[in-house]
Amino acid sequence: MSVTTILLFIIFIIVYRFLTKKSSSNQLSLPPGPIPLPFIGCTIQMLLNKQNFPGWIHKFMDKYDTPILCIRLGPSTHVVVVSSPDLACEFLKKQDEVFISRPDFMSAYLISGGYLTATVSPFSEHWRKMKSIVNQEMLSPRIHKWLQPKRDKEADLVLRYICNQIEKQDAIVDGGLINLHIVSQHFFGNLVRNMVFGKRLFGQGMEDGGPGEEETEAMDALFTILKYVYAFCITNYLPWLRWKTDFDGHEYIMRNAIDIVRKYQDPLINERIQLWNNGDRKEKCDLLDVLITHENPKLTPEVIKAQTVELMIATIDNTSNVIEWAIGEMIKEPLILKRAVEELDHVVGRKKLVEECDLRQLNYLKACIKETFRLHPFVPFLPLHVSTKDTTIAGYFIPKSSHVILSRFGLGRNQNVWEDPLRYDPDRHLRGEGKQVFLSDNDLKLISFSTGNRGCPAIM
Ligand code: HEM
Repeated sequence: MSVTTILLFIIFIIVYRFLTKKSSSNQLSLPPGPIPLPFIGCTIQMLLNKQNFPGWIHKFMDKYDTPILCIRLGPSTHVVVVSSPDLACEFLKKQDEVFISRPDFMSAYLISGGYLTATVSPFSEHWRKMKSIVNQEMLSPRIHKWLQPKRDKEADLVLRYICNQIEKQDAIVDGGLINLHIVSQHFFGNLVRNMVFGKRLFGQGMEDGGPGEEETEAMDALFTILKYVYAFCITNYLPWLRWKTDFDGHEYIMRNAIDIVRKYQDPLINERIQLWNNGDRKEKCDLLDVLITHENPKLTPEVIKAQTVELMIATIDNTSNVIEWAIGEMIKEPLILKRAVEELDHVVGRKKLVEECDLRQLNYLKACIKETFRLHPFVPFLPLHVSTKDTTIAGYFIPKSSHVILSRFGLGRNQNVWEDPLRYDPDRHLRGEGKQVFLSDNDLKLISFSTGNRGCPAIM
């Protein structure tokens, strides 16, 4: 062994001990988890299991028989996974202020144009400002009401599209085949485009009301972004690998998808800014106008463009997913479908269309939706939260900058919480005299809209 090798080895040990000193010098131990290797932690194991990262994590939780697990990735990132409601409340309710941040990930950085936005940006004063704009001026009760005609129109159009599909198949009596995936995804795509840009389509669409080439390309790109945004990517934990190479190809995929989305959106935003600057537009008609005319602070075009991308992403995933799964479950269980239809007949009747204001009385339907959130979340984990200082949870030390993952499967399918957890049973949310179903999940026994500073501001 050469002297250089020995020297390098000694430096490696010293740096490693320096980096890991914090947790070992603390009196409390970290939550249980696999023993990490120096410098790389469990990154190689993670890499080998990256096709089924959630499965790998849950296997460890079973192995250690723990509702809180700690895996070290790279030299210093502690990834803490939680699967019990009590602990979840400790993180997101009792110590919400501590876990208010998000991780510094390549994907998040790219989507948000360098952390200019409200959802994926780590904690900062700018983030607080953006979150307040989104909460109070884009998703407030007043704006929700203001946008109602756009939602009503889209509901009408989607119904027309479904009828067209049935007619095309000449199957009014026997029923037609509807691609629910297309219907649900494009319903929300058209809807959010209309709310943001004041136009449902980027192109001409199809004659039967279905998505055209442009809408399909834009939606596919948005779902690609959603797939990769918090996917396991090795360079997030070993950032020096990024210096020369896009090691696992995620950066290329993300950049490509973001380019596609912005190719459609940015020209519309530039054009609209120009109209306001020239004084050729005077009335606010959609959320883009709200962003452009915002004062104190005035938002730059870059902020508006990045926030708009994020709004599109936030709107389409959970919404379309819950429709697909709920109807899928109902088709599998015809008695559940029958009860939902009976409730609609009773509350709304067959002579008029369902309106948003009917939802309050559609308790069984809400129970179905809530049960779908529990059993079939869009992704297995909540977006990552990051701790802003050292803290203690359930007697364990949680170091500053830990990445906290609430497992939606771990909570929603937890057999200590739910009886027969894999059974789709909307009635479990209805037990109790005259029980009103709320879709929110304040005690975090399941994740629908989450809670606290980073909770979903669009619950309404
Ligand atoms: C069924 C519908 C929806 C569900 C179940 C849902 C659920 C969620 C969840 C679980 C989070 C993460 C919370 C956390 O990290 O603790 C979130 C964040 C967020 N959602 Fe929603 N969401 C829905 C629809 C929407 C819509 C339609 C919009 C916008 C129009 C929206 C905007 C946001 C934003 C801006 C955040 C980020 C909050 C932050 O990081 O501070 N969501 N949502």
